[in-house]
Amino acid sequence: MYDPVPQSGRPHLLCVVAARPNLMKMAPILAAFAQVAPQVRVTLLHTGQHYDAAMNDQLFADLGLRAPDINLEVGSGSHAWQTAEIMRRYEPVHIELAPDAVLVVGDVNSTLACALVAAKLGTAVIHVEAGLRSGERSMPEEINRVLTDQLSSLLFTSETGARANLLREGIVDERIHFAGNVMIDSLLRQLPDAVPPRVALQAHGHDCPPAYGLLTLHRPSNVDDGARLAALMAAMADLSRQLPLLFPIHPRTRAMLDQAGLGEVLRHRAILALPPLGYLEMLGLMQGARLVLTDSGGIQEETTALGIPCLTLRDNTERPVTVSEGTNTVAGTQPAMILAQAREVLRTGGKRGRIPQYWDGHAAERIAATTAQWLARRMTLP
Ligand code: UD1
Repeated sequence: MYDPVPQSGRPHLLCVVAARPNLMKMAPILAAFAQVAPQVRVTLLHTGQHYDAAMNDQLFADLGLRAPDINLEVGSGSHAWQTAEIMRRYEPVHIELAPDAVLVVGDVNSTLACALVAAKLGTAVIHVEAGLRSGERSMPEEINRVLTDQLSSLLFTSETGARANLLREGIVDERIHFAGNVMIDSLLRQLPDAVPPRVALQAHGHDCPPAYGLLTLHRPSNVDDGARLAALMAAMADLSRQLPLLFPIHPRTRAMLDQAGLGEVLRHRAILALPPLGYLEMLGLMQGARLVLTDSGGIQEETTALGIPCLTLRDNTERPVTVSEGTNTVAGTQPAMILAQAREVLRTGGKRGRIPQYWDGHAAERIAATTAQWLARRMTLP
């Protein structure tokens, strides 16, 4: 693949954020560059894919992430519209800034859109959280993962199995670096400031149950089909008779609940409906939960790091180490199966798990150090 070499001077790195899960990944990366590679000039660009205060602003505050230097304010739309609009708005900015490399994280539409623009303009792309694969091409994030990795010159993986996925897709071994999990850097840094569940719930007008489960749902495959969402919510209502459930609701899910006429879920006595929460509130609620039920990628990892049992309401996971070493179980999407597994966790206490390699709070430092060396080497090439 064409691999452009930077021209001269101090290396300039453009870092892209877009959606909620990007922010927990980028905060430790920016901190690490300031600490271990201050010679690298870092620009922070936000595409504006997530824009609500609850989905964005609160997280910047919780994570101590500095305001972006540029915001493309792209907003919501269909996949094609959103991806194309990000590319359209990003290209002139990229040309003007002329960075030596672009660092993207995760698997959201903005990750792929900016990687594609950068690669076509001859700029090196660095992908953090490379090589995760669910094997399910109907998942929009899977397409973003595969294509972003193909466009990248430097690929940082978060778990050991990711390297084999990349090699299988023809990516050269020397480009791949096992750095560990930057999401867990954020978690370990912010855990002392986690909001206690009682305080978080009071702020949202609820009393805290003595024991509770935590539920999140936002994957299109779970929420975009009204019948599927209704079946899942019926199973959750059933479970809530045994264990009250806290349910912070993603905007996409809230819209689908309304559209599918499932609004009564939000008034259910033992399912406590909450708005999208801040990072410190979410950490506190995860830490205090008997059980977490989720379709989020990040929460599968965070529960493994916290040692809290997690049931993933999907048929697969791109984060298999959370199952082989952590506290996660892929529970599927059939209500009866989910309920049986949830009851099993309540009966036994669930998986114990251990912390995967390099989920140690220092992943971002490894990324910054390796990237700085890599940039310096390229800039001194004849
Ligand atoms: C995106 C990511 C997903 C990630 C998730 C975290 C892609 C393909 N998906 O999904 O990987 O796990 O973010 O939340 O990039 N909305 C708001 N306010 C916001 C943002 C979104 O109301 O600040 C609503 C809009 O109605 C929008 C819908 O949520 O249409 C979906 O937002 P979008 O960014 O397209 O995808 P997510 O489902 O959030």
